[in-house]
Amino acid sequence: MNPPSRYLVTSALPYANGPLHIGHLAGAYLPADAFVRFLRLSGKDVVYIGGSDEHGAAIKIKALKEGVTPQEIVDKYHAMIKKAFEEIGISFDIYHRTTEKIHHETSQDFFRTLYKSGAFTELETEQYFDESAGQFLADRFIIGTCPRCQHPEAYGDQCENCGSTLSPTELISPKSTISGNTPVLRTTKHWYLPLEEHETWLRAYITHGMLDGKEHHYPEEWKKHVIGQCKSWLDAGLQPRAITRDLDWGVDVPPEIEGSEGKKLYVWMDAPIGYISATKEWAQQHKKDWELYWKDEETALVHFIGKDNIVFHCLIFPVILKSYGGFNLPVNVPANQFVNLEGQKVSTSKGWAVWIHEYLKSFPDKQDELRYYGFKIMPELKDSDFTWKGYQDAVNNELVNNLGNFIHRVLVLTNKYYNGVVPVIDESISINAPLELGLPTWHDSELLDLFDRLHDYRTYIKDFDFRSALKMLMEISTTGNQLLQNNEPWKQEKTDPDEVKVVMNLGLQYVTALSVAVRPFMPFTSDKIRELLALPPIKEKGEFVDLMDALSEGKHLIAAGHKIKKAQHLFTKITDEEIQLQMDALMNSKVEAAGAEEIQHLKSIATFDDFSKLDLRTGKITAAEKVEKADKLLKLTVDLGFEKRTVVSGIAGTYDPESIVGQDIVLVANLAPRKIKGVVSQGMVLLAEDKDGKLGFVSAPEGWAKGDVVR
Ligand code: MF3
Ligand code: ZN
Repeated sequence: MNPPSRYLVTSALPYANGPLHIGHLAGAYLPADAFVRFLRLSGKDVVYIGGSDEHGAAIKIKALKEGVTPQEIVDKYHAMIKKAFEEIGISFDIYHRTTEKIHHETSQDFFRTLYKSGAFTELETEQYFDESAGQFLADRFIIGTCPRCQHPEAYGDQCENCGSTLSPTELISPKSTISGNTPVLRTTKHWYLPLEEHETWLRAYITHGMLDGKEHHYPEEWKKHVIGQCKSWLDAGLQPRAITRDLDWGVDVPPEIEGSEGKKLYVWMDAPIGYISATKEWAQQHKKDWELYWKDEETALVHFIGKDNIVFHCLIFPVILKSYGGFNLPVNVPANQFVNLEGQKVSTSKGWAVWIHEYLKSFPDKQDELRYYGFKIMPELKDSDFTWKGYQDAVNNELVNNLGNFIHRVLVLTNKYYNGVVPVIDESISINAPLELGLPTWHDSELLDLFDRLHDYRTYIKDFDFRSALKMLMEISTTGNQLLQNNEPWKQEKTDPDEVKVVMNLGLQYVTALSVAVRPFMPFTSDKIRELLALPPIKEKGEFVDLMDALSEGKHLIAAGHKIKKAQHLFTKITDEEIQLQMDALMNSKVEAAGAEEIQHLKSIATFDDFSKLDLRTGKITAAEKVEKADKLLKLTVDLGFEKRTVVSGIAGTYDPESIVGQDIVLVANLAPRKIKGVVSQGMVLLAEDKDGKLGFVSAPEGWAKGDVVR
């Protein structure tokens, strides 16, 4: 396939159920951002789509945990994630959300169209059901041991440890995540996508890059681990995949379809369609044609994702798109593997993460430092490790000492020798080559060398090898430093001023080239360099093409006579103290998270006699009111059958007085009376308390509430 002229680039839509962390960033956002920025610099027409994934079990579970509605959860995290993306410089053309109307309509249109064309099968199956919660358990509502890697906390739809996609009935010892109970099987009816009917063309598409008899992949080679995962699916035999759920949160199955009641689209059915609805919204806002970006054969579709999303983007979504008809399929899915943190898996629930919003609080002007390190450790082919020490070393040794130092020296010396004006040079003068010490070289030949390196840099980006592209930039900077080192302008300025002019002019050409070339990786730094050079900011409109054209024609990138600004440092060192603070914060968050999960320890042993001193009785609350000037206390009247008691209980945080009249309870009936806030309390109501401090009544079965003994 020829290099495409138009691109539709997407990054996985993050679930709006928690803040953004470094694993997300380095996995699916930094590479996509560098790629689209580079495409824009190359003059390509590109739209970069992002948004929050706001449906599915992950959201519902978070809402249940926090005791709020799913809408409240997604509103909160969508805003938080969107802000973090903006602040760290991810340049989406639109950041949308799947709770928007246009998304529900678009998803329902897909369902309807596929349904009408007979693309689905309907199946009645037995699925796990949580009797205490009254709910079917799909996806993340169920956990159990992974049949592939034995990870004890695999979800019903996938194992986050080994990345396998699962179905709930495959899990060993399944448990409901709502109640912790072992679920039972019940019958329910759902729509399925018969993936097995698509095997032939999928295989040709994935493994040979052939679609409808034409070569389709771009670049031709997909990452091995992406092909590998797809192949193991294909080889295992594709199965029908349910694309609806019994849920109350999500996109409704179109209501005119028989049996749609109570059914929602499976989140993996609606979420990728979110890329399309976001494009529609963007097109409306910018008066563009969305179909050009999804249906025109000149447009290349590229999905950036983490490895746990591979089958959804390489097999399932393509089947959906092809069944609908007229849509492009991805020319590449450059999935990344996972980033670990200090040698352990990143885990939000275990408090083991570097959250982007927290990072930005600690390092408000160091967006590019995090981006740089994120690219440096990008898990392109295998899992990688974020360490705070590694971050510090990368910033101090590479950004400060290499790139920052080179640019600073060039700007300082230009100001010192030429009052900030780019010197006119005599191009016939040779200088010491930056690389091979001693050999003479000329200004022009060094610019051609720069061209060659930037050419390689471009090839790396095209091949999604961002680590190598970034390394190439640092090599250019290293060469720039050597140029200064080998020619020592600070010594030669007195003896050979014309030679020094050539050196400094060349240095300035390097810095100008870097102001463009660092842009995909470090956009903030690019702006700063342009500012210092007194050149117009990069608009990401073909500047890289202009740069390469100029270099190949032997033209200078920054003209003699142009006046630059005073030098400033681009980067500053990260101190050991700053790193220690981050390590401490990480350990604290781990301890806190562990505390939240921990079961309350048992009290010390009580003798049988201790226990038998207590007189526990069943009773019923017959009246309840708030205790004045006490937020947490309710004054209860408890009927024990043989007498009525007044009892003060600390449950006002959980229960309204009117809601508990008639509640059966168990009372410690022989406690010494106690005066609490002016009310004499004659006993204590037994309550269960969960780890979040939520209270619930302990009671005997119905009809026992008449002063019976509890023992
Ligand atoms: N929310 C999913 C995840 O975090 C990714 C969804 S990508 C999309 O794993 F294609 F479905 F949008
Ligand atoms: Zn597993």
